[in-house]
Amino acid sequence: MGRRALRKIDPSLDFSKLLLEFEQLPRPWRAEAIFGRVAPLAIEVGSGKGLFLRNAAGSQPGTDFLGIEIAHRYARFAAAGLAKAGLTNGRVASADGMRVFAELIPSDSLAAIHVYFPDPWWKKRHRKRRLMNETFLQHIERTLLPGGALHFWTDVEEYFRTTLDLLAAHTRLRGPIAVPETPAEHDLAYRTHFERRMRLSNESVYRAGFRKVIV
Ligand SMILES: C[S@@+](CC[C@H](N)C(=O)[O-])C[C@H]1O[C@@H](n2cnc3c(N)ncnc32)[C@H](O)[C@@H]1O
Repeated sequence: MGRRALRKIDPSLDFSKLLLEFEQLPRPWRAEAIFGRVAPLAIEVGSGKGLFLRNAAGSQPGTDFLGIEIAHRYARFAAAGLAKAGLTNGRVASADGMRVFAELIPSDSLAAIHVYFPDPWWKKRHRKRRLMNETFLQHIERTLLPGGALHFWTDVEEYFRTTLDLLAAHTRLRGPIAVPETPAEHDLAYRTHFERRMRLSNESVYRAGFRKVIV
């Protein structure tokens, strides 16, 4: 995430129930234990400041949204945003998404997985740190329900192409399904803060959808 200062969180806002540490996630996994109801579950990995979580949870009250964010101060900020909006179907886990998927998320359990603008790790010798690696993509395929969707957007064309190649080589997810750019009707009508930043500076954004089908 860009290392810009975060707005101060209102100290009177109680978001403690919306922010979960890795150790607080249920074992064995039960999304109902997190949200208090049975509903389709979507996970966003690398939620940053939480714009997607807030907008998606607000516009789809029948779905539960869990953001996983490795940087604790961003996880807190995103959880505070959900609390401020009065949303009950969103939570943020302050955790490493790779670890949550590898250790906790059962197969065939997620309606959707969202990954927006993951850290690009530009230097070649650092590329192995990328989230969208072969192992994680296989966890995406494993954990999606049949019919479930992966949404992957980035501003880095090389990361986009590499990920699409890895998906084709190592998973049977169907795609890429092209995603058209939609006009932003107000200042926060972007998928994420990063999309907003890229579009306001006229940078390209690469977007793809994938679906798990029963074969
Ligand atoms: C470039 S920012 C994009 C944030 C947000 N998705 C957006 O589009 O505005 C990438 C985010 O992913 C988080 N991140 C990186 N690796 C992660 C991991 N393994 N698990 C969870 N979050 C991660 C970073 O801390 C950062 O907030």
